[in-house]
Formats: sequence, C-alpha cells, structure tokens
Amino acid sequence: MKTLLTGGAGYIGSHTAVAMLEAGHEVAVVDNYVNSSAEAISRVEKITGKKVSLYDADVADKESMMEILSAEMPDCIIHFAGLKAVGESVAMPVEYYRNNIDTTLTLLECMRELGLSNIVFSSSATVYGEDHIPPFTEDATKGMCTNPYGWTKWMQEQMLTDAQFSSEASDGSANTANGWKTPLSVVLLRYFNPVGAHESGLIGEDPQGIPNNLMPYISQVAVGRRDHLTVFGNDYDTPDGTCRRDYIHVMDLAEGHVKAAEYADTHKGTEVFNLGTGSPYSVLEMVDAFGRACGHAVAYEIGARRAGDVQDSWADASKAKAVLGWEASRGIDEICRDAWNWQSHNPQGYNKTGL
Ligand code: NAD
Ligand code: WQD
Repeated sequence: MKTLLTGGAGYIGSHTAVAMLEAGHEVAVVDNYVNSSAEAISRVEKITGKKVSLYDADVADKESMMEILSAEMPDCIIHFAGLKAVGESVAMPVEYYRNNIDTTLTLLECMRELGLSNIVFSSSATVYGEDHIPPFTEDATKGMCTNPYGWTKWMQEQMLTDAQFSSEASDGSANTANGWKTPLSVVLLRYFNPVGAHESGLIGEDPQGIPNNLMPYISQVAVGRRDHLTVFGNDYDTPDGTCRRDYIHVMDLAEGHVKAAEYADTHKGTEVFNLGTGSPYSVLEMVDAFGRACGHAVAYEIGARRAGDVQDSWADASKAKAVLGWEASRGIDEICRDAWNWQSHNPQGYNKTGL
C-alpha cells in the first residue's frame, strides 16, 4: 500500500514511518518542520534501509497539496500534521484553529477532487472531556474540552465524519451528486499518552524548549539538562495521590497505525478506535520506572496541581483488539528503557550536540 504521512517528520509520524516501511508499505512524508527536523526522516531511512519520498510543504496550502497528492496518489493518507501544545493553544488559539482545521479541510478538498478515499486521523483522548469515569470506551459521548487544542481535535473528528457521510450514497457507492468520486473511509484514532522511542535510539521525541509533557521532562532531568521534575499535585484521590494515565509505547502506537491504514483500505464509513494499553500508571510510578531504566533516581519536588489536569485517564482498548487485531505489547520498563536510550544518545535531540 502507498501511504502519505502529513507531519511524518514529527514524533509519532517518524515512528509510524518505520512501522509502515517494515510492514512492506511505501511511505511519502509532507512536513513544514514547524516542530520537527528532516533529520528524523534520514534516520527512519537508516533504521529501515528503505527510501521515503519527502516533501517540504504546508499541508494547509492547497496548491502544494494538489501537486504532491496528484504525484503520489496514495492509497491512504495518515494525517498527523498539527500543532499540539495544550498551554500554547490557550495563548494562541487563532494559530491553532487556523493550522489544525485548515490542514484537514485542505486534505478533504484534495481528496474529493482527486478521488482519494482513505484517511486515518490523529485524534486524542482529550475529546472525552471530563464527563466520564475511565476506562473510556469509544462510544462515550465526546465531552467539553478544556483548551483550544482539544477543540481542534473534536472539530476535526466532526469534519471528517460529516465529509464521510456526504461522500457515500445510500447504496454504498460514491455520492457524485455531492461531488465525490469515491466514498471515503475515515479512521479516527484516539491516542492516550504516547511515550518512549524506537529501540534503536535513533529517533525519539524532540520537544522544542521546556517540555510540557511528563516523559520528556523526566528524560531531560535524568540526562542532566534540567535540575528536577515538579510533580503537579499529590493530593488526588489515587493510591499515591498523583494523577494516573495510560502511557503507550510509541512503537505500539505506530503499529496501530499500520493496522488502521490496512483496515481503512478494506472498509468504508467512519470508525473510531482508542489506542491505549488499558493500564494506568501514576506520575510517581513513572518516575520510579525511569530511575530503574537510567540507573539513578530522578530528582523531583511536589508542586501545585496543574490547571486543566484530569485525575484519571485510561483506555478501554478492547475495540482495537477485536476489530483491528492490535494491542499494545510493550510495558513501562520498555518505555523507559527506550526513552532513556534515545535521550542519552541524543541529549539535545536532532541536529544538536552536547548537553
Ligand atoms: P509533532 O509536533 O512531533 O508532529 C507534528 C508534525 O506536524 C511536526 O513534524 C510538524 O512540523 C508538522 N506540522 C504541523 N503543522 C503543519 C503544517 N501545517 N504543514 C505541514 N506540517 C505540519 O507531534 P506528535 O506528537 O508527533 O503528534 C502527531 C499528531 O498526533 C498531532 O496531530 C497531535 O495533535 C496528535 N496527538 C499527539 C499526542 C501526543 O501526546 N504526542 C496525543 C494525542 C494526539
Ligand atoms: C501526564 C501527567 C501531569 C509534566 C497531554 C495532553 C493530551 C495529549 C497527551 C495530545 C499529568 C503530570 C506532567 C510535569 C507532572 N496530547 N506532569 N509534571 O496532560 O495527560 O496529556 O498529552 O493530544 O491532550 O493534554 O500528559 O505528559 O502533560 O502529563 O507532574 O512536568 O504528568 O500533571 O498528571 P497529559 P502530560
């Protein structure tokens, strides 16, 4: 299968490129490097020994995307491109709505004009809002998001669902009256907390500036780039008082995309899957596990709760297992081992040296 990964030079996209190539699929990547480096793709090629077609373009730019998509005519688009920092989205909502919504609308317009049918979308467990008690199942109603980033995911899911509905006539054929050449197949993937790195240590998460997320922060403390972690609250109603999350190894997530793209190729309609492990760990359990992996304790202090944090979030991952035949196989020790391998060999991420 020929796949095109928007945002494929980013953290999850680059790992998915490896999994796709290893599963025997072709990979093209479109990225504007707003939060990544082309070096990631060179390393994907090094890991796999296979070539990636790489395009430097803004996915919101229709002219560029029409040119790239008509040249590639992929069997499946996997849409990772987007801005993803929750705090930044509160400060810069206009940029977040413009970028995240526009990339999806441009892709849908191009797909309609070119007769491309399959799209897999990077959504997030954030769409469940705060209304549910975990584990979250896919049929839980989407909740009220706590930040503009979350709303962009919520809205993109809706836009893709509505476009799929309009693309399919009642007999299952393309709804040509609505301008579609083929009925769409849309797969919405709701990721829980992606962490870890490829086991080679050649690719991993490379956040710009001070990390917002737990695992890259712990990694940078462990490698000596930062003094200590601040644990955001230890007065939650959990066994050790810290929040619990469903941390999923990024290579498990990547393999989930292979299954999702293969599913999209053989089905029509809109389908949504949680990609998580179903097992929650607390902040302090993650700190301990990382200490075991790197061979020394990770310094931390207890701080105040972070605004917008939910106490508990984890997946009911049974639908992906039943329908896609996928389940996560790596646990927190592999996660921390691989995150440490990446961080200790690339202390400043891609294209940089020294601490
Ligand atoms: P990332 O920032 O590493 O990757 C996103 C990539 O998209 C980057 O390479 C960036 O340069 C590119 N990009 C952004 N806007 C673009 C545009 N207009 N044109 C071309 N390229 C563009 O982020 P990631 O962690 O790999 O996340 C990938 C996707 O998964 C995002 O949509 C994100 O919202 C979603 N997601 C991530 C997480 C997470 O915790 N990492 C969780 C749930 C969902
Ligand atoms: C995990 C836990 C923090 C940093 C975010 C987005 C979500 C999704 C995944 C994209 C929480 C605690 C963190 C620190 C800490 N992204 N923590 N000290 O908030 O579950 O999810 O990333 O879709 O939308 O909101 O992940 O890694 O930021 O936090 O104590 O310095 O670690 O309070 O309990 P989160 P996270």
